[in-house]
Amino acid sequence: MLSVLLLSHLFTAAFAAQPSAPAPVEAPLRELPWGQLNFLQTTDVHGWFAGHLQEPSYSADWGDYISFAKHLRDRADADGKDLLLIDTGDRIEGNGLTDASDPKAIYTYDIVKEQDIDFICSGNHELYKTSSSEGELNFTVPNFKDKYLASNLDIFNPKTGNFEPLARRYKKLTTKNQGIRVLVFGFLYDFTGNSNNTIVHTVEDTIKQDWFQYAIRDEEVDLILVAGHVAIRSKEYDAIYKAIRSVQYDTPLQFFGGHTHIRDFKRYDDKTTALESGRYMETIGFLSISGLNGHSKSEDVSASKGLTFSRRYIDNNLFSLRHHSGTDQDTFTTSAGSKTSALIHEARKNLTLDTRYGCAPQDYWVNRAPYPSVLPGQFKQSHRAAKGHPALVITNTGAMRFDVFKGPFTRDTTFLISPFTSQFSYLRDVPYKKAKKLLQLLNNEGPIVVDKALSASVSGSLHRLMPELPEIESGDDDNDKTIVVTPLRKHKPYGQVPLGDKKPELIPGYTTKDDAGDDGDDTLHSEIKFYNVPPCIQASIGLGDSDSETLTDKEPQAVDVVYNEFLESWILLALEYLDEKRSKDDIALYMNGTLTDIITGWVSDNWAHDGDDCP
Ligand SMILES: *[C@@H]1O[C@H](CO)[C@@H](O)[C@H](O)[C@H]1NC(C)=O
Ligand SMILES: *[C@@H]1O[C@H](CO)[C@@H](O)[C@H](O)[C@H]1NC(C)=O
Ligand SMILES: *[C@@H]1O[C@H](CO)[C@@H](O)[C@H](O)[C@H]1NC(C)=O
Ligand SMILES: *[C@@H]1O[C@H](CO)[C@@H](O)[C@H](O)[C@H]1NC(C)=O
Repeated sequence: MLSVLLLSHLFTAAFAAQPSAPAPVEAPLRELPWGQLNFLQTTDVHGWFAGHLQEPSYSADWGDYISFAKHLRDRADADGKDLLLIDTGDRIEGNGLTDASDPKAIYTYDIVKEQDIDFICSGNHELYKTSSSEGELNFTVPNFKDKYLASNLDIFNPKTGNFEPLARRYKKLTTKNQGIRVLVFGFLYDFTGNSNNTIVHTVEDTIKQDWFQYAIRDEEVDLILVAGHVAIRSKEYDAIYKAIRSVQYDTPLQFFGGHTHIRDFKRYDDKTTALESGRYMETIGFLSISGLNGHSKSEDVSASKGLTFSRRYIDNNLFSLRHHSGTDQDTFTTSAGSKTSALIHEARKNLTLDTRYGCAPQDYWVNRAPYPSVLPGQFKQSHRAAKGHPALVITNTGAMRFDVFKGPFTRDTTFLISPFTSQFSYLRDVPYKKAKKLLQLLNNEGPIVVDKALSASVSGSLHRLMPELPEIESGDDDNDKTIVVTPLRKHKPYGQVPLGDKKPELIPGYTTKDDAGDDGDDTLHSEIKFYNVPPCIQASIGLGDSDSETLTDKEPQAVDVVYNEFLESWILLALEYLDEKRSKDDIALYMNGTLTDIITGWVSDNWAHDGDDCP
């Protein structure tokens, strides 16, 4: 049932998808529920503008999204309906296309801007580094002008020497065909890990400000939109919802959210819903609203129908995109789309993302080998291990963000599996009796507790391969420190699985359940099983329990506790709990290199290389 539409066409005519992208796979589809006002949403793209080059379900690229949106806009115009596009942030970090350049993301500003996005805002990942937020100030904001919204975000402008709103706080517009008056905000959740050149005002403070209170009292609006890098089930959106509803008791209200990387749809009340459209260019969210008051001169489609909201999660591949746009292989790709696909291809080439380090002999999932064996293998090269000091190495499973698929392990792969730049530190000579209790203390709910924000709310989708960075809550409740858990992880590889007799052959993938039921996904998929994994995993060096270690017959007195820098606060906290208080002065670098460098080193040493066959 493979539709091999793609390849022959690629090099001759228009550039659609990336040349190495797998052909899309045919699957049963649900139609898009068009309405009076329609939206397409992307969120948490994290640099995946080239699409997924090893997964057919998500193999369309940003250029294809441009072609797709153009066809849908044309259809909206022809039908007298409206279509608006939204991106809710975290466009960068997590893919070689954004992370392999210095400064990061320089190739992507020109790629993103080719899409005609109506509302765009910043995520937390745009703000970790000064250079990234300055990239927003220097490029994305000028590229999108008044379409960029920053309701609670200020930036230090080097030109004026002042902190200023990154973009406008809100805007109002009237839709082109239906004449619907829309008031729009663009929020970021209460993020605190930003570099010092930005200020994120808490949502709670922001909604008290005069400009916000003034804006929400506008009576000349038919719809209020809140687009934000905010989970749709969050205290931030609850607060905004209450603030707006307290002054506009029945104006239709629509939230678009992000950050938690899931497909989800929430109903707040009869006139308010929220959509979150996944992650990594796997999903293009579609939402429609009908029954709004329009002010178009020509026709009034709102009529007497009640207000309705409908959603669909589109798998981002050419099979779906062509189907929903009523096009085929000859008519799908627009010149703007093709130009952008070519731009992405060239950027990937310039960044040498296809350089191969090895060939993965099979699929590996984040919660399995090879990670546990990689760490001791490479860490033996550290100066401490070389001198015979035994060690326990602890890393958070959240540092491994993505699966490794059978086939080429390239420079691009290194950015996908672990984009974090933290290195490994150690505390020397920790009593072994205490050190060996650390892992359990970090992984079990106890005095060091799992982050509520991140472990909660996985309804709607189980696709949480990539948790967000943990942030220590700086609350005053002393024992209640929190660590991230990655609750559910993909277990099965991607691929077609024969099901029982007579059923259509479904491809494993998203099977979303949300407040509107289980019919949200455009593509009918078979379910993927997920397993819980602990937040942290451990490997040992010189303790005899991993392969090719010399067996020591008795326990050592003391070991080095080696950990991903990321976990430092929790390690110190856990040791303190074990009566082994250590200060930051005791901490030293264990080995040069990030987790990514370490895994890449291991792959080069252990897996087949260039020149060898690598299907
Ligand atoms: C942004 O522009 C300022 C000058 O206005 C410059 O100092 C800064 O380096 C630029 N940053 C980036 C990431 O382009
Ligand atoms: C941020 O911190 C650095 C280092 O402490 C300092 O040099 C810089 O001026 C600060 N930037 C702003 C905008 O305050
Ligand atoms: C790639 O590099 C070439 C040569 O340096 C340059 O002309 C081109 O603009 C670069 N492409 C992109 C997408 O930046
Ligand atoms: C890291 O590399 C630097 C520079 O090569 C070297 O001086 C240092 O000793 C290395 N540190 C460790 C812990 O290996």
